[in-house]
Amino acid sequence: MRVSVIGCGHLGTTHAAAMAELGHDVIGVEQDPEKCRALAAGRVPFFEAGLDELVAKHTASGRLRFSTAPAAAAAGAELHFLAVGTPLRPDGKGYEVDQVVGAVRSLVPLLQRPCTIVGKSTVAVGTVARLQAIIDGLATVPGVELVWNPEFLREGHAVLDTLEPDRILAGLSSTAARKALEEVYAPILARGEAQLVITDPATAEVAKSAANACLAAKISFVNAMAEVCELTGADVTQVARVLGIDPRIGPLGMRPGIGYGGGCLPKDIAAFAHRVKELGAVRAAGLLDAVEAVNHGRREAAVALVARAAGGNLEGVRVGFLGAAFKAGTSDVRDSPALWLAARLHLCGATVVIHDPQALPQAQRALPEAQYRETALGAATGADLLVLGTEWPEYLADPQLPATAATLVRKPVLVDVRTAVDPALWLAAGWSVWQLGCPVRHPTVPPATVAPPG
Ligand SMILES: NC(=O)c1ccc[n+]([C@@H]2O[C@H](COP(=O)([O-])OP(=O)(O)OC[C@H]3O[C@@H](n4cnc5c(N)ncnc54)[C@H](O)[C@@H]3O)[C@@H](O)[C@H]2O)c1
Repeated sequence: MRVSVIGCGHLGTTHAAAMAELGHDVIGVEQDPEKCRALAAGRVPFFEAGLDELVAKHTASGRLRFSTAPAAAAAGAELHFLAVGTPLRPDGKGYEVDQVVGAVRSLVPLLQRPCTIVGKSTVAVGTVARLQAIIDGLATVPGVELVWNPEFLREGHAVLDTLEPDRILAGLSSTAARKALEEVYAPILARGEAQLVITDPATAEVAKSAANACLAAKISFVNAMAEVCELTGADVTQVARVLGIDPRIGPLGMRPGIGYGGGCLPKDIAAFAHRVKELGAVRAAGLLDAVEAVNHGRREAAVALVARAAGGNLEGVRVGFLGAAFKAGTSDVRDSPALWLAARLHLCGATVVIHDPQALPQAQRALPEAQYRETALGAATGADLLVLGTEWPEYLADPQLPATAATLVRKPVLVDVRTAVDPALWLAAGWSVWQLGCPVRHPTVPPATVAPPG
């Protein structure tokens, strides 16, 4: 099929490359000329595991092209994906939909034949009906239909999740639109592993928001239990393990820590909370408010944990900081809990020296007042304590890191705000290990040679 993808950010670039991999002829439309130039040259301007290779492969094969002009999409494609951003409004009262409305307004008047527009961006319930009315007013040909096909990919696993999704959800109102959807996803559906769920548009809109809210609630639940553990001396990692064994609960999304972040969950929960309040669903709103309150509270708890590990005062403390991305596998630092914590430590008077394997340029732009190093050991050198802010496998799976880093820091104190390290490995190398919701663990051996101060 000839398809277009309008908006080539994290979602759109992945989707465009995946559609080319499925065999479609794809034109990606990106309004930012610099981003568009990079993509057209086969370079992805951010890190997402496996995406560089896929974009390079299909810009070379000719199945994936990029343009800044909506006319390129209108002329060549029979199905148009909308993957533009829906940020939170500055006042927090729902989504800013300017990008979605702008994309529709620039595309629809140019369409010369009946076609399907497939929205993938995350929107509030009621948006599809509003956009279809705009489309009907602008279309110069009949049969321009809007379908909403929300995206469930996880950054860090975006390529795999797009090529091998567990579900494809489509909110639509006609047989023609259903046929177009089935055709574009045919290679995935033929494998028989993804469930195709067809609903009306409002149900698709609510289902996407509900999926985000359910995941965020699970994360906030285990983090609320971490708060209880801190007050009782219990160990939240063991509590989470016990909960996760129950098949009705499950282990995924049950790792306690500094809470969720990124370009999606925080704004989607805030926008959903606002929408359900508008609708008058007061108890649902109360639940979402509690989920958000726990999440914000864990960030504050992480600051307090680092301060305690530093002996009560952060002024003048040198912090080696591992990780800036909002999670491992991506260079995305939008609403990153790690970077938020680094910024707060800096504000409290600490010198923060950051390493991240993929997000250094993005972090430097977002937090220029911190210092940056090209290696984890560089960030650790001379530090009074080390903070693990993002759970990159580089930090967790390198069995040499604890022992080598212990010889470079002033004091072997690790604050792991992701509850991600194997404490035994660090304790055996002489570190004390501080994790949210867990008793402080002290080393089982004396520290190795510690670098002299200075
Ligand atoms: N990032 C994710 O993992 C993810 C997952 C699921 C859903 N979503 C949803 O997908 C949407 C996009 O998210 P994102 O993270 O890719 O955002 P993003 O900000 O990274 O990308 C949006 C892109 O659209 C471009 N754009 C805006 N208006 C345009 C127009 N009229 N024509 C061409 N290009 C235009 C912007 O320049 C930008 O590059 C959001 O609604 C988000 O909630 C994202």
